[in-house]
Amino acid sequence: SILIVDFGSQVTQLIARRVREAGVYSEIAPFTAAEAAFQRMKPAGIILSGGPASVTDANSPRAPQALFEAGVPILGICYGQQVMCQQLGGEVVGGQGEGEFGRAFVEVRRGSHLFDGLWQEGERHQVWMSHGDKVARLPDGFDIVAVSEGAPYAITADEQRRFYGVQFHPEVVHTPDGAKLIANFARHVCGLAGDWSMAEFRATKIAEIRAQVGKGRVICGLSGGVDSAVAAVLIHEAIGDQLTCVFVDHGLMRSGEADQVVGLFREHYGIPLVHVNAETLFLGGLAGVTDPEAKRKFIGKTFIDVFEDEARKIGGADFLAQGTLYPDVIESVSFTGGPSVTIKSHHNVGGLPERMNMKLVEPLRELFKDEVRALGRELGLPEIFVARHPFPGPGLAIRIPGEVTRERCDILRKADAIYLEEIRRAGLYDAIWQAFAVLLPVRTVGVMGDGRTYDSVCAIRAVTSTDGMTAEAYPFDPAFLNRVATRIVNEVQGINRVTYDITSKPPGTIEWE
Ligand code: XMP
Repeated sequence: SILIVDFGSQVTQLIARRVREAGVYSEIAPFTAAEAAFQRMKPAGIILSGGPASVTDANSPRAPQALFEAGVPILGICYGQQVMCQQLGGEVVGGQGEGEFGRAFVEVRRGSHLFDGLWQEGERHQVWMSHGDKVARLPDGFDIVAVSEGAPYAITADEQRRFYGVQFHPEVVHTPDGAKLIANFARHVCGLAGDWSMAEFRATKIAEIRAQVGKGRVICGLSGGVDSAVAAVLIHEAIGDQLTCVFVDHGLMRSGEADQVVGLFREHYGIPLVHVNAETLFLGGLAGVTDPEAKRKFIGKTFIDVFEDEARKIGGADFLAQGTLYPDVIESVSFTGGPSVTIKSHHNVGGLPERMNMKLVEPLRELFKDEVRALGRELGLPEIFVARHPFPGPGLAIRIPGEVTRERCDILRKADAIYLEEIRRAGLYDAIWQAFAVLLPVRTVGVMGDGRTYDSVCAIRAVTSTDGMTAEAYPFDPAFLNRVATRIVNEVQGINRVTYDITSKPPGTIEWE
């Protein structure tokens, strides 16, 4: 495996991805926990990430010195190169505002193990730079391997110790050969086979879960989404009926969704599942609530209350299982960003573990979303579950601006089901990140048959995105939109007008509340 030491770069996760794409398992540890991670993982190589700090600042992060004495190859990227250089006796200088940002070219001055078979002496290659500081004097044993206009130490190497430093970012797509460079480091320099796979991950995790849990009891909250489902199936494979799943059904799910969850777990997998029908509780509490944040807060809090109650009833659980993913973990160890503005308070079961005083089982902590999907397929989860679009924790409540009632939920469920049915029929489901209907608290006049109607407006939304952070409206064919609008107005009583939301994110958000 490869250990990635995180110094807080925005793109550290991409390093992990590139390494895994090369068929090598990798984990990220913040620099503060890197030594412990090294002891645990016994990696064959280390990558030091970039970061926003300046090495010239005495209080900026450092790598544990022991890593440089461990005898394994190291690749330092940007800040990682600078920190390695400084800790090994070289010198880094501040950039007095003259750094390089964006596209640059490196000129290869000599061959290196780092790019054997990839780059040759004398060639120029496009890379992506983003740095202010730069290396000014190399530690003993290091040589300059490539230069760029703004960085005379664009690539440096100590071939003997197998320490490499790059001033640019090979992990981003703007460095066209970057993925190959990282793969070369992992396989050629570190000598790893590149045969890591989901099947192996599954076997390793099952052994880990058994070791962690022993004879203890585990409860797992299911949301209906892919993450918690994959976590639960994996844990069940490891410990069987020591696992109990709890599905808090807030009544704000889409059409047929609750039954699907129950069917999949109880019938398909035979996993013990407690289905808590809390619709009345949730809708009762939502009566008269129109403020989006108030809705979100109420749902989040009530969800935790209900779950806690159920856990108490089941009794004796020592562990709480969660489908926490890698991006969630990374966000929570961010040590760089100041407080950011709350756009929406996301509902997840974040506060649950502390309150319930339970140990956590989080078998997906190292995975990205698409890797979770791959693991789900490996575990035999049906495609309809595995490939499902993301769905927000507060469910339909945040797709019904204004007051949420049972009646409005039912109207929305019907419209949403028609829309998604048409999307699947047109073969577009997998090309879209998320598609859903929104029921607006606005009534407009229409005409049906010979009569006047005065009913609600339904907005439909579909976006493409890679991570939900930015998004663009899907460019449907007008004939498709026509078909959906006609069906919804004809088939759903209570809706007489359909609009298509073409706002991108930013400035819009994906959900309406
Ligand atoms: P926005 O609306 O902020 O949504 O652009 C970005 C992504 O997050 C999902 N989302 C949520 N997911 N709990 C969740 O688990 C929430 O409270 C929540 N709010 C929004 C949204 O569906 C989109 O995929």
